[in-house]
Amino acid sequence: MEIIIEALEEQGVSANLLKEIAAFRAHYPVEEALQNRVTAPDMPYYGRETFEMAAYALLQGENILLTGSKATGKNILAENLAWVFGRPSYNMSFHVNMDSSALVGADTFRGGEVQLRPGPVYQCAVNGGFGIFDEINMAKNDAVSVLHATLDYRRIMDVPGYDKIHLHDATRFIGTMNYGYAGTRELNEALVSRFLVIEMPTVTEESLTYILKRMFPDFKAEGLSQICGLFLDLQLKADNNEISTKPLDLRGLIGALKTVHAGLSPRAALRMGIVNKSFDLFEREIVEDIVMTRIPEEWTAAALF
Ligand SMILES: Nc1ncnc2c1ncn2[C@@H]1O[C@H](COP(=O)(O)OP(=O)(O)OP(=O)(O)O)[C@@H](O)[C@H]1O
Ligand SMILES: [Mg+2]
Repeated sequence: MEIIIEALEEQGVSANLLKEIAAFRAHYPVEEALQNRVTAPDMPYYGRETFEMAAYALLQGENILLTGSKATGKNILAENLAWVFGRPSYNMSFHVNMDSSALVGADTFRGGEVQLRPGPVYQCAVNGGFGIFDEINMAKNDAVSVLHATLDYRRIMDVPGYDKIHLHDATRFIGTMNYGYAGTRELNEALVSRFLVIEMPTVTEESLTYILKRMFPDFKAEGLSQICGLFLDLQLKADNNEISTKPLDLRGLIGALKTVHAGLSPRAALRMGIVNKSFDLFEREIVEDIVMTRIPEEWTAAALF
């Protein structure tokens, strides 16, 4: 807990806000049986303003929807929030074939009787959890319409054939969505209206440097600067529509850097993590050129770590 809080303090997150979050934690202790759902994120989220918006909203009892392109830290932010608020988290990956029973629960036979097997939203609701609706715009609208009363001021869940349940006071929901991905659809207005919407910023030199240093504390200065420059070059080209956003993949970059850390040459690693993410020959050449300008061929892993 301290590591994440300290990182937020270092970023200048409002001390008052952090105090209110601590008060929330103290007000809603987590019972022993749920402790294993209170999980530490891999790393602190970097982005003071975004963190503050999200945390203030959650403190006011709002649900939030994080929108932005791939690898902008939506999940890492959601995990950081659940952790600092000290709540058990329930992750639900939405998909096209999902129906409402996958969220709420379904009938099951137990001891010769029909009983409800509570779904993740149900468990999250009664346990005061932070429910993460991952890629919420993948699901069909009728699957999520069951959540309307859960997500607005009523804070109830109506389980067909069973009782209505009231949400625990600490329960919150965090949606994530990405407009660009194949298979995503427009979120229905009624659903969006139940969230405060936060647009995730794209990386800057400062945030990228922070993230990579945090992941690889032994990154050498010159290598780090070239790797950040490479990513920002790609971002600029994508912004100018000279390339698509496919090779602009922070997750891919991090994966590639892990292989360099283990000994692979930077060029080969970047081919896997960045260049080959593009399946268009013309685009791939542009990306390869950018990599060649930034990363000399003779560089070995030792140039970075
Ligand atoms: N602002 C940030 N702070 C910390 N880590 C970040 C940030 N932005 C991106 N990352 C890192 O990038 C990787 C991807 O982050 P994450 O999975 O949260 O992205 P996402 O927005 O959910 O992506 P997708 O839309 O593809 O699901 C992680 O390793 C994460 O640590
Ligand atoms: Mg995600």
